[in-house]
Amino acid sequence: MCGIFGTISDNAVNDTLKALKCLEYRGYDSAGIAVKNGKDIRLFKTAGRVENLQADLPSDLYGCTAIGHTRWATHGEVCANNAHPFYSYDRNFAVVHNGIIENYLSLKYNLTASGVNFTSQTDSETVAHLLAKYYEGDVLQAVVSTANRLQGSFAIVIESVYDGNLYAVKNKSPLVVGVTDNGAYLCSDIRCISRWADKVAVTPDNVIVVANRSGVKFYGFDGEPVPVKFFSVDKAEEEASVDGDFMLKEIMEVPDKVRQAKKGYIECGGLNLPAKTVHRIKRVYLVGCGTAYNSGLEVAAVSRQMMDIDVIPVIASEFIYDSYPVDSYTLAFLISQSGETADTIRAAERIRQQGGFTYAVTNTVTSSLSFVCDKVINIRADAEYAVASTKAYNCQLVTLTLLMTDLAYLKGTIGEETRNKVFDAMDGLGSAIDKILSDSYEISRLAEEVKDSSAVFFIGKRADYPTACEGSLKLKEISYIHSEAYPAGELKHGTLALMEQGVTVIAIACDSDLLDKIASSVSEVATRKARVICVTPYSVDNATLIKIPVVNRLLYGIVSVVPLQLLSYYVAKRLNRDVDKPRNLAKSVTVE
Ligand code: AGP
Ligand code: GLU
Repeated sequence: MCGIFGTISDNAVNDTLKALKCLEYRGYDSAGIAVKNGKDIRLFKTAGRVENLQADLPSDLYGCTAIGHTRWATHGEVCANNAHPFYSYDRNFAVVHNGIIENYLSLKYNLTASGVNFTSQTDSETVAHLLAKYYEGDVLQAVVSTANRLQGSFAIVIESVYDGNLYAVKNKSPLVVGVTDNGAYLCSDIRCISRWADKVAVTPDNVIVVANRSGVKFYGFDGEPVPVKFFSVDKAEEEASVDGDFMLKEIMEVPDKVRQAKKGYIECGGLNLPAKTVHRIKRVYLVGCGTAYNSGLEVAAVSRQMMDIDVIPVIASEFIYDSYPVDSYTLAFLISQSGETADTIRAAERIRQQGGFTYAVTNTVTSSLSFVCDKVINIRADAEYAVASTKAYNCQLVTLTLLMTDLAYLKGTIGEETRNKVFDAMDGLGSAIDKILSDSYEISRLAEEVKDSSAVFFIGKRADYPTACEGSLKLKEISYIHSEAYPAGELKHGTLALMEQGVTVIAIACDSDLLDKIASSVSEVATRKARVICVTPYSVDNATLIKIPVVNRLLYGIVSVVPLQLLSYYVAKRLNRDVDKPRNLAKSVTVE
């Protein structure tokens, strides 16, 4: 899920560096730039962040055509040799790639057999060498021939010494094209070029782009022109910056964003499905990855208390290849903060092909997912920069809970009074979360104890279990402490063997019907000398309590996750982790 960029502009080097900083959320293993100046392509790359690259660049680097890359490695370790761009063996082409060339081994085998030396372990380098092999005086023809050899997902930007054009090849990985009066921008993300481009096009799959100062043309892989529409975009604001960490800032925004998500839901008309469609629905899937999947898990647990049709949370990467039934009675909510997650987009495509209704629940309504789905709703969390998702999770829960409440009401499984109760109770969540945030000293203190745990287990029952999953994901991704989530009753079927001094158990106990049950699990682990912390509005023995305010019983997930977000943040800070950009991860996962 790298970020790729290419530009023909008066300020190509600076524009590339600015765009790469904006694209860093897509990967920060390494960064690189290749600049065409006259007949030469000068290429620089380094392991680590864009700022490292910038520091290494010579002061005389100048040119009007440049490509750039920020990497999240899929093939080949993180090092400067595997950083993009790649030269072709004759140095007449340079390429950057986002995606996976699935047939790269056979391509590499043939290229090596014909005498080509590879400088990296990546799949991407094959593309540069293929271009050189196929070049016989016409760059577009070489690009067409190369495109036809590639399998997998790819957005590739190419420059060559032969002409002043930028070329791109696109299948399944995102590529937007922006134009100005006398230049062009090719990029993985609209947001990173809209400060320059007046008009933007989203490149369809299996399309080749040729850009130069006089405009942009699109071709199919057969070399024939294809029509692609441009649309106007608002100029993006300058990149946000923050004193301290984005993650903490974003947690602090949760109360406001939760209010905003509800307001947005009402303003956009809510579920807004024709009565005929609602009547047909017999099965609802909640599909997403990581935190987005956890929000589906939570809302499924809540929905089961409101309706009697199947509400099934599924991990998107599993949905694609498993045989979950889909037909015209299927409604699927595709949940994605970025709207660029490849697994979720593939799942949406499968559901549409099989006749299901697809409904994107996203924080980015201009994203690829929105284009694939029948309908889109904005969760209104505003831009989220920290890799660890926080406020978007709370807003996904607000939006999905309202969607499912409306669905239950329209299907007649709850009455108007219950529907209104849920809607009204949402209004109190902002101040409940404000209270948790303003009282966070105890959480910060507990982080000091948790940071030395040999492992952390999060437990909960019914709608508290998904909160445990999200708490565990948050902690492991930014602190690197081993953590797992379990339905509390499941511990005694194996995991109890791991309980001992040094282990921390974090219990979520908000379901008043099941308080005795979770209290028994707490007692069982405390007996085995694990330290127990309990997030609850009630009183639970044998545990250090993180108290949260009482809210509507269906809405606890939106509130009880906040202390866990904060705890993870404080633990990671105490361990000196890079909270906003944890190792091995990226904000947007655009490869399967
Ligand atoms: C969240 O903290 C994670 N970094 C990750 O699990 C994320 O939620 C997942 O990759 C899905 O992203 P999306 O919502 O943009 O589709
Ligand atoms: N496969 C390429 C690499 O490992 C690109 C990875 C990506 O786009 O995530 O460098």
